[in-house]
Amino acid sequence: MIKKAIFPAAGLGTRFLPATKSQPKEMLPLVDKPLIQYGVEEAVASGIKNIIIITGRGKNAIEDHFDVSFELEKFLEMRNDFEKLQIVKSISAMVSFAYIRQKEAMGLGHAIFTAKELLNTDPFAVILGDDIIISETPCIKQMIKIFSKKQATIIAIKKVPKSEIHHYGVIEAEEIDSRLFKVKSLVEKPSARQAPSDYAIIGRYILTSGIFKTIIKVKPDAKGEIQLTDAINLLIKEEPVYAYEFAGTRYDAGSKMGFLIATVEIALRRKDLGKDFRNYLMNLDLSEF
Ligand code: G1P
Repeated sequence: MIKKAIFPAAGLGTRFLPATKSQPKEMLPLVDKPLIQYGVEEAVASGIKNIIIITGRGKNAIEDHFDVSFELEKFLEMRNDFEKLQIVKSISAMVSFAYIRQKEAMGLGHAIFTAKELLNTDPFAVILGDDIIISETPCIKQMIKIFSKKQATIIAIKKVPKSEIHHYGVIEAEEIDSRLFKVKSLVEKPSARQAPSDYAIIGRYILTSGIFKTIIKVKPDAKGEIQLTDAINLLIKEEPVYAYEFAGTRYDAGSKMGFLIATVEIALRRKDLGKDFRNYLMNLDLSEF
C-alpha cells in the first residue's frame, strides 16, 4: 500500500555548527546511532520497502552509511565480532535506497517535488529525520492504518505549548474520531496569537500524488522556500486531508535542547545502558555546574 518514504536531508544543519561543517546533520549520533537511522528503522518497521533520500552537497556520508561496508565487515569477521558484524550488515540490508540531489535549498515542498518522477501516482510517506518518535507501534505504521481507511492525505500532529507554536505548521481542524481530525486549513509557523489551534504538525506525512499539482502553485515565502504546509493547504480544496494525533513520544532532535533531551532519554530507555546511566544521573551533584 504505502511502500515508499521520502527523507528530505538536503539542509545545511547550521544550528549544529561547527559539528555540521563537514558532516551531515543527519549523521549526528543519538547515543550511537545516526539521527536518520531512527527514522529509517521506523519506516522499515512500518512496512516501507523503498527509501528515497533527498540530499545535497556534502551529504555523501549518508549514502555510505546505508551501503555495504566491505572492509569493515571483513575486519569484524576476522575478529569474530559477530554482534557488531550483525549491526553493520543489518543497516545495508534493511531496505532499498535511492538518492536524489536537491540542487537548491528551496524548502520542504520543493524537496518533495524533486522525487516526483520516482513516485508516479502512488501515495507515499514523508519522514523528517529531526523528529524522533519512540512508540510501541511505529508512528508511520499508525498513520498507514488510518490511510487504509481514508485513502487520503494524513498529517501527524501533537499538542504543543502556545509559547512553542511559532516553530511549527499549525492546523485548524474538527475532531471526527478519537485522535483523528478533518483539516480545514493549515498555517506555517504562525505567531501564538494567530495560531488556529495548539496542534502542531510533526514531521510525518502520508501524501497522495495530488500534492505535486499543488506544490507547483505555491509561491516561495519570505526566505525563498516553498513550504509543504502551503501545498497541503491548497490540496484541501481538491481532496480531504486528515490529521492524526499519533501515540508516542516525540523528540525535536533538530534543536540543541531537543537533541540533548533525546540523547538523555534514549540512553535511559536502552537495555544495555539505561541502568548505569540512570544511576549516574541520580548521583549527579548539580550544584557543581
Ligand atoms: C517543518 C514543517 C513544519 C512542521 C515541522 C515539524 O518545519 O515545515 O510545518 O511543523 O517541520 O518538525 P521545519 O522544522 O523544517 O522548519
